[in-house]
Amino acid sequence: MTSLQLNGKTVSVDAAPDTPLLWVLRDHLGLTGTKFGCGMALCGACTVYLDGQPIRSCVTPLSGAAGKKLTTIEGLDGKVAHAVQAAWDRIQVPQCGYCQSGQVMSATALLSKNPKPSDADIDIAMAGNLCRCGTYVRIRAAIHAVAAQLEGAA
Ligand code: FES
Ligand code: FES
Repeated sequence: MTSLQLNGKTVSVDAAPDTPLLWVLRDHLGLTGTKFGCGMALCGACTVYLDGQPIRSCVTPLSGAAGKKLTTIEGLDGKVAHAVQAAWDRIQVPQCGYCQSGQVMSATALLSKNPKPSDADIDIAMAGNLCRCGTYVRIRAAIHAVAAQLEGAA
C-alpha cells in the first residue's frame, strides 16, 4: 500500500510502486480529469502538481508521489485557479476539451508564479502542453485576461 496526500485527503493505493501515477489516478482512484495523451512526457495532458510543481503523471511512478502533496484538476483551488477556470469558460477556450485540464494546470502554475506574464513567458510555460485543436490563441488570451483581472483586484 502506498499512501498519498491527494487533493487535501490521505488515500491509500494498492498498486506496484512503479505504476505510473496517471494510471493510479484514473484507474485506481477514479479521477479521470487527468488525461492520457502520449505517455511519454510530450503532450502535457496528464499534468498534475507534486508539492505545487507541475509534473507529467504519465512518467512519474507512484513511488515518486509517496509522502508528497498531490493536486489534480479535481482538487485545483484558490483565487488564481478560480480566475483561470472562469476565464477559460468566458473566452470559451476549449474545443474538444481533451487537453484542457493539463492546460488549466499549467496556466494556473504560471500565473501563480508570474501574475503578469508576457507572450514569451506564456509560450515558454505552456510549450509542453499540446492542443490538437489549436486553441493556443484563446489560451494566451485567457491567461492575459486572468492577469488583468488579478492586477485589477490587487
Ligand atoms: S500523457 Fe503525459 S505528457 Fe502526454
Ligand atoms: S481542445 Fe482539443 S486537444 Fe486541445
